[in-house]
Amino acid sequence: MIEKDFIPSAYQHQIEEGKVTWKSPSNIALVKYWGKKENQIPSNPSISFTLDACATTTIISCKKLAKAAATFSFDLFFEGKPKEDFKPKINTFFKRIEKYLPFLKNYHFTIETSNSFPHSSGIASSASGMSALALGLMSLEKQLNPAMDTSFFYKKASFLARLGSGSACRSIQGTIMQWGHHAATENSSDLFAIKPSYKVHSVFKNYHDTILLVDKGQKQVSSTVGHNLMHGHPFAEERFKQAHKNLLALKSVLEDGDLDSFIKIVESEALTLHAMMMTSMPYFILMKPNTLEIINKIWAFREASKTHICFTLDAGANVHILYPEQEKEEVYQFIKNELVAYCENGQYICDRIGLGAKQLINKVE
Ligand code: DP6
Repeated sequence: MIEKDFIPSAYQHQIEEGKVTWKSPSNIALVKYWGKKENQIPSNPSISFTLDACATTTIISCKKLAKAAATFSFDLFFEGKPKEDFKPKINTFFKRIEKYLPFLKNYHFTIETSNSFPHSSGIASSASGMSALALGLMSLEKQLNPAMDTSFFYKKASFLARLGSGSACRSIQGTIMQWGHHAATENSSDLFAIKPSYKVHSVFKNYHDTILLVDKGQKQVSSTVGHNLMHGHPFAEERFKQAHKNLLALKSVLEDGDLDSFIKIVESEALTLHAMMMTSMPYFILMKPNTLEIINKIWAFREASKTHICFTLDAGANVHILYPEQEKEEVYQFIKNELVAYCENGQYICDRIGLGAKQLINKVE
């Protein structure tokens, strides 16, 4: 599919008003997206576990305007309160997607959004937030074009979410999502995420992700700035090649359930991501001393316990601890006894691999 395929032809239906609610999860990348081209096109393919507990719920209400507005008309509420500082991001998002959702200027929107995870936990809400918003807008478009089929609905939701935040395109469905053109993956695309077509080994069912909140503060360098620093980065081309190789290797690992190889790929990807940050110009470090303490403790425990605990990182200091369902008691005891001490205010979130976003039925008022 190409961009043009997401531009709708004239709508068959009209609606005066509408209200839709979607709950969309966050995701954690195994092979990382780091570096992008114009129009939110990734420099390399990536793959992630969709999460379950960390999610954003977004209600979109819309009312038809008497005549199309010159600018986007919307109010935004975050956890029940007006949130002016989120508005420019939504406005940019609307501008980017207007071509694909031509009804946007015909309505006034009220967007009410809230997160399941604590505010300022250092957990990126852009993936869950942008995917929930994209799905809500797609539900409204579906009311204007009821003939739209389900597979196109999800593809376009992922396509739109990508234009809000790259990693958001991987949050629409579960349990494993791949985004970005990859020669060895049929139907892979830079424009939206897909579910890999192979059968994933049962060891990855109910895989756990316990997120240790090491530093809840605002990041010094945003992901967007970090992505841009991959332009002209001395190691960029090698890194992009490596992501293609890791994605291919991970395919057999996910099929065979080879956890030792899984650990090697996932931890190497996490450290490579941070190595890219440390070797860009300007260089920066997002890990904190406690991030490294935790990594060393995980390595020592893995050696001693022969479990398959491993870590990954996103663009921050928090540590995601991944482990299979079969080892959950032993690993969770270790986390509580030895790692929680390194978390800010002892905070952590127990999450696991999830099925993707869900539409919630609006309460009748
Ligand atoms: C490190 O998706 O937040 O989490 O497209 O600029 O919104 P934008 O970036 P974003 O980048 C996430 C990068 C990452 C790795 C990943 O999720 O693949």
